[in-house]
Amino acid sequence: MTHLVEMKGIEKRFPGVHALKAVQFDLKPGEVHALMGENGAGKSTLMKIMSGIYARDGGEMFVDGNPVSPDSPRAAQDLGIGIIHQELSLMNDLTAAQNVLIGREPRRSFGRLDEAALNAKTAEIFASLNLSMDPRTQVSTQTIARQQLIEIAKALSYNPRVLIMDEPTAALNDTEISELFKVIAKLRADGVGIVYISHRMDEIKRIADRVTILRDGAYIDTVGAAETPLATIIQLMVGREVTQSAPVIPDTSQNPVALEVRHLSRGKEVRDVSFDLRKGEILGFAGLMGAGRTEVARIIFGADPRDSGEILVDGKPVNIRTPHAAVEAGIGYLSEDRKHFGLAVDMTVRANIAMACMAQFTSRAGVLNETAMKDIADKYIGQLGIRTPSDVQQVRLLSGGNQQKVVIAKWLLRDCDVLIFDEPTRGIDVGAKSEIYALLEDLAAQGRAIIVISSELPEVMRLGHRIAVMCEGRLTAILPGGADVTQEQIMEYATQRDTASRFSEEVL
Ligand SMILES: Nc1ncnc2c1ncn2[C@@H]1O[C@H](COP(=O)(O)OP(=O)(O)OP(=O)(O)O)[C@@H](O)[C@H]1O
Ligand SMILES: [Mg+2]
Repeated sequence: MTHLVEMKGIEKRFPGVHALKAVQFDLKPGEVHALMGENGAGKSTLMKIMSGIYARDGGEMFVDGNPVSPDSPRAAQDLGIGIIHQELSLMNDLTAAQNVLIGREPRRSFGRLDEAALNAKTAEIFASLNLSMDPRTQVSTQTIARQQLIEIAKALSYNPRVLIMDEPTAALNDTEISELFKVIAKLRADGVGIVYISHRMDEIKRIADRVTILRDGAYIDTVGAAETPLATIIQLMVGREVTQSAPVIPDTSQNPVALEVRHLSRGKEVRDVSFDLRKGEILGFAGLMGAGRTEVARIIFGADPRDSGEILVDGKPVNIRTPHAAVEAGIGYLSEDRKHFGLAVDMTVRANIAMACMAQFTSRAGVLNETAMKDIADKYIGQLGIRTPSDVQQVRLLSGGNQQKVVIAKWLLRDCDVLIFDEPTRGIDVGAKSEIYALLEDLAAQGRAIIVISSELPEVMRLGHRIAVMCEGRLTAILPGGADVTQEQIMEYATQRDTASRFSEEVL
């Protein structure tokens, strides 16, 4: 069988980075080919070459056996190659339909835009995705997850024969992921070849036919998904065995309470939520998307107002109305929407890490102590394994996962007594995940109080000393962490609709 696409000996260099070293990859019609590797391994770069965004420095590429060198996204589209990017690239001020059919809007005579046709055509694509959304909706009003779905619709509008998905599920919930997988199954049945990039290991078994692994820009192997154990794939990715340290749950029941939340309410999103967080404790927050976990965090952080309720820090009531005031009160929040709130992408890694506490690096005369900033930046680059040629690289030139590590470093450096991490490991590879877990546990051991919100249950269960479960704005349970809790128990409370709220008092 001829390959839809074949790449051989692909080379790519950036200043200071040999991003791809003689990499090979091929794609057959009707298969899902997963591309795996740690953050910075070269996955996105290889796919940007396939889709005409970057030019390759060496090697060959074939479509249907014919040599090609797409030199623009347009040229790649003409070859039938479409890509859904890791970073969203939508125009926020336009409608969903205007984004989906951008540059190809249906027109009437005299070149006037045909709104009706534009919206109808988009509605058709949305329907094929099982997505209920008005095509006239402005993109900026939509959640990240729904923007991701608009991006997918846009790629499908070109009727691609090859569709590259670069971490399409990073921001989707379980229902949305299932919908996406149905779309993928349909495309595959139509003979479309799909390249699938994800750090969610469980997805690989669910949808991939073959898996190609890259490590440090080098091609490692291509294996069948069904017959290869996940542990083998992980080992090929990281080049060593990843040992999952068993969580040790310290006894923090006698520690002073760092944060008290009493009867917190805001509309329907947060309904009468109360809990305590002790110094040295990690409280995991589980729940389905929209359960109200992020809303609780945003109110505590002063990013949203509350209707009623009280927040106490070290036993004293505080009235936090802005994130600035929250940081002053010793509360930090790593938002789930890091692209918009976390990073100055045109600045260097060093500046981004140090930015959180500039005062610490500024002399009384107002002079920046660059050496101290460099030392700190280098420390975190080492600790978190941030892959960058140096600490003065611009953040936008780092791979997606490495950008996220920079945000984490920023918050680790801030001297906050209470730290709230919202989806801290989204887009982060398996190896780096365990390093981040270890860092959070270290912080707790130093006496910080930590909240971890995660849509990945194993993550909440791995980290949480106790696990708070939310459903439809209410706190439905606080369960013990560690070996004493099962996924089923958590799910039961996460789906416990308006019945009387049960509390397992013994662990409170
Ligand atoms: N435009 C660029 N300029 C300089 N370096 C770059 C550029 N694009 C990528 N790199 C570097 O090339 C390497 C590979 O990056 P790439 O984005 O392909 O990684 P990735 O495998 O997609 O990682 P992730 O899982 O984090 O998304 C990284 O070291 C990255 O910093
Ligand atoms: Mg990437």
